[in-house]
Amino acid sequence: MDTQYQATLETLERLRAESVSAGGEQQLAEQHRKGKLTARERLDLLLDDGTFEEFDVLKIGRGSSLGGEKSFLGDGVITGHGSIDGREVFVFSQDFTILGGSLGEAHAQKICKVMDLAVKVGAPIIGLNDSGGARIQEGVDALAAYGEIFHRNVRASGVVPQISCIMGPCAGGAVYSPSITDFVFMVEDSSYMFVTGPSVVKTVTHQDITSEDLGGARVHASKSGVAHFTVHNDVLALREVRRLISYLPSNNRLRAPILDLSDAPDRTDPALDFLIPSNSNQTYDMNVLILSILDGAEFMEVHAGFARNIICGFGRLGGQTVGLVANQPAVLAGVLDNDASFKAGRFVRFCDCFNIPLIALVDVPGFMPGPDQEHGGIIRHGAKLLYAFTEATVPRISVIVRKAYGGAYLVMNSKHIHCDVNYAWPTAEIAVMGPKGAAEVIHRKEIYSSTDPEAVLNEKMEEYRRTFANPFLAAQRGYIDDVIFPRDTRTHLIRTLQMLDSKKTKGPDRKHGNIPL
Ligand code: HXC
Repeated sequence: MDTQYQATLETLERLRAESVSAGGEQQLAEQHRKGKLTARERLDLLLDDGTFEEFDVLKIGRGSSLGGEKSFLGDGVITGHGSIDGREVFVFSQDFTILGGSLGEAHAQKICKVMDLAVKVGAPIIGLNDSGGARIQEGVDALAAYGEIFHRNVRASGVVPQISCIMGPCAGGAVYSPSITDFVFMVEDSSYMFVTGPSVVKTVTHQDITSEDLGGARVHASKSGVAHFTVHNDVLALREVRRLISYLPSNNRLRAPILDLSDAPDRTDPALDFLIPSNSNQTYDMNVLILSILDGAEFMEVHAGFARNIICGFGRLGGQTVGLVANQPAVLAGVLDNDASFKAGRFVRFCDCFNIPLIALVDVPGFMPGPDQEHGGIIRHGAKLLYAFTEATVPRISVIVRKAYGGAYLVMNSKHIHCDVNYAWPTAEIAVMGPKGAAEVIHRKEIYSSTDPEAVLNEKMEEYRRTFANPFLAAQRGYIDDVIFPRDTRTHLIRTLQMLDSKKTKGPDRKHGNIPL
């Protein structure tokens, strides 16, 4: 081997080793001390063994506009592609050991390169975020760099699935890229997201607040709805990202992979015939129905801690991924409120983008009444869910298991907004409103002029219940395609999904609709 070539090989080896050691032994140890994995360890766990192909190992930052700033190989982010269960994905993993994982021009160019390739080949983009935000030393160039990423996030939206895993700080404008992506995972106790940190909050509002209380995983999973999933540590986070990918197609032209869990399509569950309490004001757990019907009782719930009055998530029926949207009577009686409408609306739109059939399990007493909800915008938030279901062209099926009242009935994937097949259980109550409210409106004079108002009210409620609070009137009108035995729900759903497999619809030509945001 000639000596010059030998020297080139040695240089390559040295540069690669330098890049892998990142910010140095001390910084890597510090990362572990905080309970976090390093950027490379994370990629090792995320991807199938030995499949990672790295790009731009040798790329360096262009230094600081302030002068004197050291440039690092790789510029604080590791990018490339690999596979998850044999399917290609594109990844970037920010390296906090280099300038706090902050984002400068070169760092962003690396991310943009894999985003562009992901869209070209039609594969998901997974970002492992651990960054102090815009690299302060690079000034406006760092802001410009963020803009390039946001632009690509938006262009890729609805084309390939985009997943963000927040595994450290995420501050300032850095939160907006993850929030445009489809799903955000947050690691408890080591990640946080906020537009302005505790010190700015203190200066502007004089409030003392910790990072955790301002933008920790629990806050975003339960209050703001920014995080779709929270996990205890990095290892679990990466495992859950792999699990989520298993439910999704690689892009909007494909269907999700079929996974046969060896669960018979004609399996019945006689216990479901007894799920609904005889008193319709009594509660039960909708998860019982969900787990009963899905293949292998496997369900990946999205936004599990946020707006718990509605349940959204992925499961499989006959091996095929489905998106489930189910009212939860065990929380706030399953009422639709602002958060529930937003949560389910966004989930429905994701499924529609990526060819995932939608199934609604309906037990909804209505929209939440009161000034808090009205002033908080229940009209426009509720309209999001209405719009999302109405717009969806994927196969759509509904099962009304109990209450389906008023506007909430219409919104929850009813026949009237062109759901494909609507089933009802014999326990379904499809009406303009609940018996008590209805009796009080229609028979107010008679009730309150009576010597025993309560008895008259009960009598009128019973009369109303007999007439309207059943599925038969709706079935007679053809609004319900069949009233089914609860035990057979799984079989009906799987058969109907097979029938709808080749569904095609075409809307009017337009640039895009104008969903009430
Ligand atoms: C450059 C940064 C940096 C940044 C951290 N570092 N953030 N360098 N630009 N944004 C560097 C630190 O100087 C330090 O370098 C190393 O990373 C580790 O940081 P520490 O502060 O020692 O770590 P820690 O105590 O864990 O705190 C992490 C942190 C904190 C909470 C992220 O560093 C921090 O508050 N950073 C600034 C966050 C921020 O305000 N970012 C800008 C947001 S504005 P040395 O050499 O000492 O190891 C923004 C606008 C985008 O992002 C707009 C887009 C539209």
